[in-house]
Amino acid sequence: MVCLELETFHLERFQSTWEHAVEYNLAESGVQPLALEELLGGKDVVERFMKRSLGYVHTNGSPSLRRNISELYQDAGEENVLVTNGSSEANFLAAWSLLERGDEALVMLPNYAQVWGLAKMMGGAAVPLWLRNRRGWNLDLEEVKEKVSRKTKLVAICNPNNPTGAVIDRTTLRGICEIAEDAGSWVLCDEVYRGAELEGGMTPSVWGIYEKAIATSGLSKAFGLPGLRVGWILARKDVANRLWAYHDYTTICVSAASDFLASLALEADNKARILSRTRRLLTSNWSILERWFGRHSGIFACEKPKAGAVSFAKYSVNENSTLIAERLVREKGVLIVPGDHFLMDGYVRIGYGSDAGRLEKSLALVSDFFERLGKRIRSGS
Ligand SMILES: Cc1ncc(COP(=O)(O)O)c(C=O)c1O
Repeated sequence: MVCLELETFHLERFQSTWEHAVEYNLAESGVQPLALEELLGGKDVVERFMKRSLGYVHTNGSPSLRRNISELYQDAGEENVLVTNGSSEANFLAAWSLLERGDEALVMLPNYAQVWGLAKMMGGAAVPLWLRNRRGWNLDLEEVKEKVSRKTKLVAICNPNNPTGAVIDRTTLRGICEIAEDAGSWVLCDEVYRGAELEGGMTPSVWGIYEKAIATSGLSKAFGLPGLRVGWILARKDVANRLWAYHDYTTICVSAASDFLASLALEADNKARILSRTRRLLTSNWSILERWFGRHSGIFACEKPKAGAVSFAKYSVNENSTLIAERLVREKGVLIVPGDHFLMDGYVRIGYGSDAGRLEKSLALVSDFFERLGKRIRSGS
């Protein structure tokens, strides 16, 4: 039996420990979640929901849900979709099915460290593909070329990126796929922030660019519905079917209530309403955060994110990011994510998708903390 050595997923452990205990949570990467009543709307939908049987649903997702998901992509059909419990299960199934001992995975960093950890556990080697601040957090195709090898089974990217909010354009996506194709590798693109752009159109999907590309996504971020735990895989029909067989071993299917509600959220009118709520929230909250960064430019430097509800800020105080986040949560009751969780000390991730009033209050506590810490360090006390 192969025994996998578990690598702690520090970001998830830290959030699980604190998110329900803190006064102010700026560690969230999605927008303020919708309430059930905002999604259900009118009386007849509520009635339909109440009459819903709580049996098992289609284990790959009900046809109506898969159809609605496929409509988020060009020229995709319900046969290309496998519904999963969150995009995290989608990523897990992709990594589990593709990676064997001795395989290498090129993984974009900084990044939500799930595939990074899985690649090390399942394949053995994860090779970083760095987004660099000085390049506006853009990926360097030359670096992808240099790092890819015959051992590279998988190139894993996240678009839009968590934590930087960077977006890869279609030309660069094609470039990544061409390099992967030359090496015979798969491309796994986590697109869970697609639809949460601050400006411009929707981020291009990897779907349709390359035969061996798998897109993962879900309703947790751009749709503000993380509690539904609905995600999906979008892939070639035979690949979606193959991954379905892996899904039989994990969670079988999503809950009947979630399948119904997810399908409802993705109906055309609801989809437009929810995505415009997300954009409104992000745009107005970003202006709060931008003003705050401006007032504290001696401490923080941060690129404007193109998408997503998080900002990745470099700070000038000479202290480790994990120590800072731990002290901040204990002393001020504000939760942020240390750069260490993205393998980038010297940075912190600050979410801005929450209610505007709470955001302002928490930011005031964060800057007060950093100012005092800076003074203490400078005076050596
Ligand atoms: C890039 C990325 N992928 C996946 C996930 C997990 O999301 P889900 O709730 O869909 O499982 C997260 C959560 O923060 C994320 O940032």
